[in-house]
Amino acid sequence: MKTNPVIVALDVESAGDARALVTRLGSSVSFYKVGMELYAAGGMDFVRELIAGGKDVFLDLKLYDIGETVKRAVSQVARTGVRFLTVHGSSAVMRAAVEGRGRSPLKLLAVTVLTSFDQQDLADLGYPCATGELVELRVRKAMQAGIDGIVASPLEARSIRALTGPRAILVTPGVRSAGAGKGDQKRVATPAEAIRDGADYLVIGRQVTRAADPAAAVAQVLDEIHAGSRA
Ligand code: C5P
Repeated sequence: MKTNPVIVALDVESAGDARALVTRLGSSVSFYKVGMELYAAGGMDFVRELIAGGKDVFLDLKLYDIGETVKRAVSQVARTGVRFLTVHGSSAVMRAAVEGRGRSPLKLLAVTVLTSFDQQDLADLGYPCATGELVELRVRKAMQAGIDGIVASPLEARSIRALTGPRAILVTPGVRSAGAGKGDQKRVATPAEAIRDGADYLVIGRQVTRAADPAAAVAQVLDEIHAGSRA
């Protein structure tokens, strides 16, 4: 297990707010997720600033477009030193992303089925299958396309790990310490459970970013994980 598998989601509305949080977290966090909100506010300038400050960046843009566009966008991201980038788990998108990444060290993560989707949402898209079946199909396609890892609910971690084998990078959001507020997340697991079930990295947002002492919140998560791995 990694000594620090925590990726903090910088879900804030400006580069200034994100910078203040990163400063408060100091050396307790070395990996940050920049999602659509902060990307729209601070753009690649802020991403480059994080990287220049020695941080690793997970750019969570969930790309989905025609192959050529995805390929070219991924190739731009690959040049910046971003470590992880998400794309949707449709075969043409994933293949284009792998092409765009080329020989760079950028790792591509596939989003299989959004964890906010239920059976009704799939029916709405015209998919007749169960969510679990679609997740499984897309994980297999991702591995075939040369994708490096999967973003998934911690409740799916065990079954996905069984499909991918040990080499894939498994990243799970939807992680909460027992007793921490769930916010709008419905299906959560504790950090220790997620790691036990095969996650390599945990994305944690509000439990850290809205804590009175964010660095202490990270320390608590790490303690729980290490206690869990000794149990
Ligand atoms: O605050 P919280 O810990 O719930 O934040 C989780 C982060 O992970 C958010 O940035 C959210 O967009 C992201 N995420 C998620 N579920 C997914 C994919 C990403 O919660 N399936």
